[in-house]
Amino acid sequence: MDVVVLDDAEAVAAYVAALVLDAVVREPELVLGVATGATPLPVYRALARGSGDFSRVRVVALDEYVGLPAGHRGSYTEYVSQEIAYPLGIHPGNVVMPWGSGAELERRITELDGVDLQLLGIGRNGHLAFNEPGSPLDSRARVVELTESTRAANAAYVDPVPTHAVTQGLGTILDARELVLLATGTVKARAVSAALTGAVTPDCPASVVQRHPRVTVVLDAAAASMMAPWQTSSGWSARAW
Ligand code: F6R
Repeated sequence: MDVVVLDDAEAVAAYVAALVLDAVVREPELVLGVATGATPLPVYRALARGSGDFSRVRVVALDEYVGLPAGHRGSYTEYVSQEIAYPLGIHPGNVVMPWGSGAELERRITELDGVDLQLLGIGRNGHLAFNEPGSPLDSRARVVELTESTRAANAAYVDPVPTHAVTQGLGTILDARELVLLATGTVKARAVSAALTGAVTPDCPASVVQRHPRVTVVLDAAAASMMAPWQTSSGWSARAW
């Protein structure tokens, strides 16, 4: 696992945008797994300011709320459309959003021959996509109930926050060929430390990334503030401590 710690959220966005751009240059038909939420927004905006050619890229989202009407501003479908697909010139037909029971999402991902590069955020409670604490480490896409803490954290973007969501499972996420986890701000420091230096456990779903052979974690100093180099296990290269 590569852990890159940079000064601030702006540097994190620039770093991750460069990673994505690099992957698209190498593979113009990249299957890009996208996280939504506040953390990766500056990444998508940095990509939109650049001149990368995303016209053949396929996009798969991690999760979506259940029960929001079509076109709802707080839905992840709108987020992906307004912040990713439209600004980057990705054809709407090349965007896969989770819906229904989750089985359809698994089928679409299989049809695409899997996700090449998966961007991930992390919840304050350690959730990954909407796999809340207690989620099986081998779970597949399915409908889940959101915790009160997740609903409170997301209330700024959609109010009221739906009680349920359809999400890729932790097993689904681990099937991606490469993972890039990003986190910024002290509010994420505890979850980041638990996920990267603690046990791999359903109590902290994001800890499952430790099981993936190809992971880059990109943090700002605030999100990394509860970790120290001596906490990292051997084999990690903490390039910017
Ligand atoms: C969103 C997602 C969630 C978020 C997490 C962090 O697609 O899967 O796991 O990544 O809730 O959200 P922000 O970035 O808003 O703090």
